[in-house]
Amino acid sequence: MQDQLAQLETRATNEVQNAKSLSELDAVRVQFMGKKGELTGILRGMGALSAEDRPRVGSLVNATREMLETLLNERKTALSQAERDAALSSETIDVTLPSPLIPFGKRHPLTQTLDDVVRIFSQLGYGVMEGPEVETEYYNFDALNIGPDHPARDERDSLYVAPGIVLRTETSAVQIRTMESRQPPVKIIAPGRVYRRDAVDRTHSPMFHQVEGLLVDRDVSFADLKGTLTTFLTQLFDALPGSGGLKTRFRPHYFPFTEPSAEFDVFFNGDWLELGGCGMVHPKVLENVGYDAEKYSGFAFGFGIERMAMIKFGIDDIRLFYENDLRFLNQF
Ligand code: DAH
Repeated sequence: MQDQLAQLETRATNEVQNAKSLSELDAVRVQFMGKKGELTGILRGMGALSAEDRPRVGSLVNATREMLETLLNERKTALSQAERDAALSSETIDVTLPSPLIPFGKRHPLTQTLDDVVRIFSQLGYGVMEGPEVETEYYNFDALNIGPDHPARDERDSLYVAPGIVLRTETSAVQIRTMESRQPPVKIIAPGRVYRRDAVDRTHSPMFHQVEGLLVDRDVSFADLKGTLTTFLTQLFDALPGSGGLKTRFRPHYFPFTEPSAEFDVFFNGDWLELGGCGMVHPKVLENVGYDAEKYSGFAFGFGIERMAMIKFGIDDIRLFYENDLRFLNQF
């Protein structure tokens, strides 16, 4: 019996040490100490012993059981610790690892330019107005002093959706809507889409964007227009005034809604690029909205957003703005 116990101790000790996980260790415990375990079996067999042997063998079996329990507990503690350590190290987050690349969206170059325009004019105290893209001939032409026979009204130039209703050809229509709704002083810009029957090429598109500007007050002069445009453009193109970084010029021109009128050019890529038109609001236009042309004067301008974006970003083909090619858009 003693030998049997000694041999059981040796085997049990080995198996406890060899258990590699808590579940393996539990299997060892069941094998020796469970209801049908080997040590339990020996205890059961004690009934067959003589009364004088029983206490001695009993204390030997107990000693073996205690020793086994201690071993099992120690091993259990060690394995739990190891399993926790393994879990901790496998679940660690290495904050120094490079992160996966997350592609960021960007604002379209036209939106960026438009946002810049709105920001700069807001800082100069201008409000932002909007008008409908489907416009009546009255706002798009008549009220702007564009006569019934003016070529701009021709169906070959403008896109009519119904008799008397046109896709607005210029944001100037918003000038009239604004002035009708308030008294001077008026100080607004009106950005938005405009439509013309133009064939698509490097510099033309049947839809493009303009920003209209309008200031009406007492004693407004052409010098105010010039100062305002210079301030605006030097900010837009990040050129310092007087640094020679930005060359601009006015060219005398004719628009029915301004007098005098001019076209405004910026020197770009070795050439003069027209940004749009401008001038002093025609007295007839002021009268059309019920303003006293003796008392008030004003300036107005209408510039192409695409043209500004082309200069700002060095783009030489307007079609690139509308093709949504990510290789193009990702550069801005
Ligand atoms: N509406 C003109 C165009 O689309 C541009 C323009 C010229 C707007 C002179 C103005 C202006 O406000 O005063 O070609």
